[in-house]
Amino acid sequence: MAAAEEVMMLSLVGLGLWDEQDITLRGLQEARGADLVFLESYTSRLMGLNKKRLEELIEKEVKEADREFIESGRVLEHAGEKRVCVLVGGDPMVATTHADLVLRAKERGIPVRIVHNASIYSAVCETGLQAYKFGRSATIVFWEDNYKPTSFYDVMVKNKELGLHTLFFLDLRAHENRFMTVREALQELLEISAERKDGLFTPRTRVVAVSRLGSPEQRIAYGVVEKIMTDDLPPLSVIIVPGKLHPVEKEFLESLL
Ligand SMILES: C[S@@+](CC[C@H](N)C(=O)[O-])C[C@H]1O[C@@H](n2cnc3c(N)ncnc32)[C@H](O)[C@@H]1O
Repeated sequence: MAAAEEVMMLSLVGLGLWDEQDITLRGLQEARGADLVFLESYTSRLMGLNKKRLEELIEKEVKEADREFIESGRVLEHAGEKRVCVLVGGDPMVATTHADLVLRAKERGIPVRIVHNASIYSAVCETGLQAYKFGRSATIVFWEDNYKPTSFYDVMVKNKELGLHTLFFLDLRAHENRFMTVREALQELLEISAERKDGLFTPRTRVVAVSRLGSPEQRIAYGVVEKIMTDDLPPLSVIIVPGKLHPVEKEFLESLL
């Protein structure tokens, strides 16, 4: 059934990687057909997005939806009465919180439609690293004075044992306009390794840092940690710690040096 014929509906529409131009034609159609359009702004942030231009494209107002609005189920109260479209950076299903939202909508008998888009998960293959050779990913989180989790580091250790690449997302607090930089993230990894004296992550370790992928300003930097740390890579960024490299992956990365 077409969106316009549904009375209640939740659609999750991916926005892709950079700005309002990355929405797909199908996503645009879905948003235009909705009664209410929200922009989910806490799992990711499109750094190039201009909300006014997005509203012009969609031909209606776009309201910001914070974590509380989505996770408390308030968004579903609207979707139980109207056609609600939630716009999400990247692909909407690459975030556990949205899978949960889909389940809760189904429980309430609300039809759900997903419109996929490019995700950072697959876009990182522009580094030449093969998608099937990545292990678990993890997020490097902001450390506080009394809160310094290290579980993300353990993910890398396990992946390394298996020869797999590790994709690290970097923490963000969109409501505070705070985005972790590559330098801050590398610093945390260095500190954990130094503390554990495991020699697994040192200033000489080779990593890939990827910033603003999918934008005209994108940067892919490969090299040793101490060199990457001198570079001011703008957020949003990810860091990849390569595992065992296939000769083609190696050749590709070395072409970036
Ligand atoms: C939860 S993930 C985004 C998931 C999103 N749904 C997707 O499919 O791309 C958010 C993290 O991905 C990374 N990220 C998102 N977009 C990026 C981009 N264009 N370039 C580099 N890193 C990006 C950042 O580390 C950010 O904190």
